[in-house]
Amino acid sequence: MKGSELPPELFRRQDETPDHRFYAEPRFVTHIDDATIIALTEYYRETLRAGDRLLDLMSSWVSHLPGDVVYGDVAGLGMNREELAANPRLDRFEVRDLNADPTLPWEDSRFDTVMIAVSIQYLIAPFEVFSEIVRVLKDGGRCIIAMSHRLFPTKAVYAFQTLSLADRCRLVAAYMESTGAIGNIESIDRSPANADPLWIVTGRRLPR
Ligand SMILES: C[S@@+](CC[C@H](N)C(=O)[O-])C[C@H]1O[C@@H](n2cnc3c(N)ncnc32)[C@H](O)[C@@H]1O
Repeated sequence: MKGSELPPELFRRQDETPDHRFYAEPRFVTHIDDATIIALTEYYRETLRAGDRLLDLMSSWVSHLPGDVVYGDVAGLGMNREELAANPRLDRFEVRDLNADPTLPWEDSRFDTVMIAVSIQYLIAPFEVFSEIVRVLKDGGRCIIAMSHRLFPTKAVYAFQTLSLADRCRLVAAYMESTGAIGNIESIDRSPANADPLWIVTGRRLPR
């Protein structure tokens, strides 16, 4: 599915002002329950290898990576410099509004994994961002999109406020499929009991 085949209203939001205003002040908070963070960290422990080069897109002051694993290089990209500077897992970071400029400032085939945690609902041009994700991923590299149900309602696109859970997972799978370069796409429910849910859509970069 191409982005042009979907109703454009799905990618609009209540607050269309430039995102830098909304993210000007740092928010040193977590956006999902502790048990859900533990479930995401456990998933990362199972799927990422020590020494991997990682890109945490739409990052903040936390990346939810297991604290005892040493990765090769962890890059982050987000909207707030103070949050990114306080993130102990990032070796480098960029401040960039992907809704104004959906390009990624890294070279081709740099990363073993690109992840987005609880933030995919804020992208207004996801198909452009995913074409960049496949560019910076190594062949065989993973894309991991973790989602829950909390959101900033004025900034989340309507798709994530109106579609069912199953359709939100299908939509993220469509972002991946649209690249023509991601296979093995799966949706996984890792929701802990009595806490915010955790749904993960993941796929692998096909060989070039
Ligand atoms: C709900 S927070 C999640 C942060 C972090 N990934 C986590 O798991 O706690 C949403 C994040 O998306 C990022 N973000 C929102 N809009 C963005 C945009 N237009 N471009 C880049 N990052 C964006 C913000 O910087 C913020 O850190």
